[in-house]
Amino acid sequence: MTTEAIGSAVTPPMGVERRYPPARAGIDPDKDKGWLRRIAPVVMAHRVLFFGSMALALVAMLMQVAIPAVVRLTIDDVLADGSATAEATADRLWVYVLVVLGLGVARGLLTVTYRYGLYRTAFEIDTDLRTLLYEHLTTLSFSFYDKTHSGQVISRANSDIRSVQMFLTFAPLISMTGVMFVVALAYMLSIHVLLTVVAVLPLPGVYLLGKRLRDQVFPLSWIVQSRVADVSTIVDENINGVRVVRSFAAERSQINELAKAATRLRWAGVRTVDARARHNPVIENLPRIGTLLVLVYGGWLVIQGDVSEGTLFAFTAYVTMLQAPFRTLGLFLMLGQRARASADRIYEIFDEQPQVVDRPDAGELVDVAGLVEFDDVRFGYDAGPPVLDGFSLRIEPGETVAIVGRTGSGKSTIARLLARFYDVDGGAIRIDGHDVRDVTQLSLRAAVSTVADDPFLFSVSLADNIAYGDPTADRVAIESAAATAQAHAFISALPAGYDEVVGERGYTLSGGQRQRVAIARTALLDPPVMVLDDATSAVDVSVEQRILDALRRRDDRTTILIAHRLSTIAAADRVVLLEHGRVRASGRHSELMATEPAYAEVLAHLEEDFEAELAARGDGERSTIQLPIGDGP
Ligand SMILES: Nc1ncnc2c1ncn2[C@@H]1O[C@H](COP(=O)(O)OP(=O)(O)OP(=O)(O)O)[C@@H](O)[C@H]1O
Ligand SMILES: [Mg+2]
Repeated sequence: MTTEAIGSAVTPPMGVERRYPPARAGIDPDKDKGWLRRIAPVVMAHRVLFFGSMALALVAMLMQVAIPAVVRLTIDDVLADGSATAEATADRLWVYVLVVLGLGVARGLLTVTYRYGLYRTAFEIDTDLRTLLYEHLTTLSFSFYDKTHSGQVISRANSDIRSVQMFLTFAPLISMTGVMFVVALAYMLSIHVLLTVVAVLPLPGVYLLGKRLRDQVFPLSWIVQSRVADVSTIVDENINGVRVVRSFAAERSQINELAKAATRLRWAGVRTVDARARHNPVIENLPRIGTLLVLVYGGWLVIQGDVSEGTLFAFTAYVTMLQAPFRTLGLFLMLGQRARASADRIYEIFDEQPQVVDRPDAGELVDVAGLVEFDDVRFGYDAGPPVLDGFSLRIEPGETVAIVGRTGSGKSTIARLLARFYDVDGGAIRIDGHDVRDVTQLSLRAAVSTVADDPFLFSVSLADNIAYGDPTADRVAIESAAATAQAHAFISALPAGYDEVVGERGYTLSGGQRQRVAIARTALLDPPVMVLDDATSAVDVSVEQRILDALRRRDDRTTILIAHRLSTIAAADRVVLLEHGRVRASGRHSELMATEPAYAEVLAHLEEDFEAELAARGDGERSTIQLPIGDGP
């Protein structure tokens, strides 16, 4: 087993201990190995239960083979023994009956036990895979999430893990029926070769018919699955996008879409049932043809005196038993193929390496004074054109700097790089002189907090949303953070106050209320470096001023304001104009207005762009009253 298995060492989030049993082993990271060998460490971690159950299954199946053999002896040795008295025969009969009964009961108990064991192993492995996958996902960088569909990740976590788990449950069972087949066949051959040949005659037919059914039904079942997905996508989009659907009065056309998808699903469903209905009776009755052949030929042999009545009985029992592996062989192959494809998709995620990782010798960033330096930074997303190129900016501890630039100029990118969501392609970013790549990500993100313009809230209470970064915070701390963000008044006015559970992604709140909750969430942590990325864009100008004032009560905090609005910019000690990926100008608002024509021009455009964006978004609570700012701080 490899010690460096993927997903075996993940740091827990800040101050939270792991409260679940870790997976005992990880996936083998060697990509050249086959899928079963890569998953082997996870399975082997449960080897006692897994192989123990398989051994029990083997014993149970051997008992199943033994029962007809014992009955054969009973018929031939006890019942057909003409020399014994009736009483002696009855006594011996009882012994045999008890042996058969004992075998039957033992087999039943073993079956219960091994099934429990196998299913249990499968679910343990299922849980391990989910834990490993989720732990691995938490280590992956934003560059992975940028290019990945969240739906795909979720479906991988669910259906792919499930198909691997199904294979791991059924494959051992099916291979055990193979062993049972070999033992029964050997026993039959030792009694009568030709009768054995007659008994196995229908087996190829069983296999071929089963294969034909699968060839018809499985493509159909894929179609059914994908059409179920189509239907749920439409339903999901309509429910999530209900505001858009309603505002464009598109209900009718959406229902038509849904009806179309549902009709297509029905077609596939009916075709599946049809194929099953035609094949299943044939498949179920094939064993009877086998029994018939054995009875005809075997009966003739009995009349000839070639085989005993007991043998004939045993053979009719084995005919059915022999068919089990043939019926399931196809299922085995199909499950195998599917599990392999699923495993490959799961491994694709496991093989994804995090781009941003802590150095082995990374230190903790503590006692941050708040000196932020961007030193000749070059950065582009995923081999795209550089967004920042030659970007240099020094922000003193306690300084508030506004970054201004046209939309798409890279302002949010600066915030993401400072929190090290991505690594720079060139140059360096330093906090208090420490390169952000030399400190742990946890300590860096504890020091640098960003509030985004469209914050994500969780469907929990407002108190829990605000305390998200520090679940141990008490009500006093939560309320004081809310007060800083000017959110206390509106939260108190809600029916359940701080215990009000917000709707999905916070959509029961207005845009400006959501932003204020997000600011409270960051204010609670009171970080030494704070980035407000358009975080007050949907808040009233007067409320915004109160928020910025409250945040400035801690005057040693370094603050970066990314702003579209004059009122926000006015709150800064210094304004930096970002253009073509670098700092074009820097200074007080009034200075720049006077000396830098490009600055005045960008500001004029900003208001236009911003009004257009706000109109399109339509959920702001911002008033249209503009502060008469022209000469700023
Ligand atoms: N995750 C991403 N993957 C690829 N390209 C991105 C990604 N995020 C942003 N970009 C691109 O990088 C450039 C800068 O984006 P950024 O979000 O930093 O702009 P911004 O200045 O914050 O704009 P806005 O004022 O509209 O918020 C844009 O051209 C954008 O298309
Ligand atoms: Mg932005």
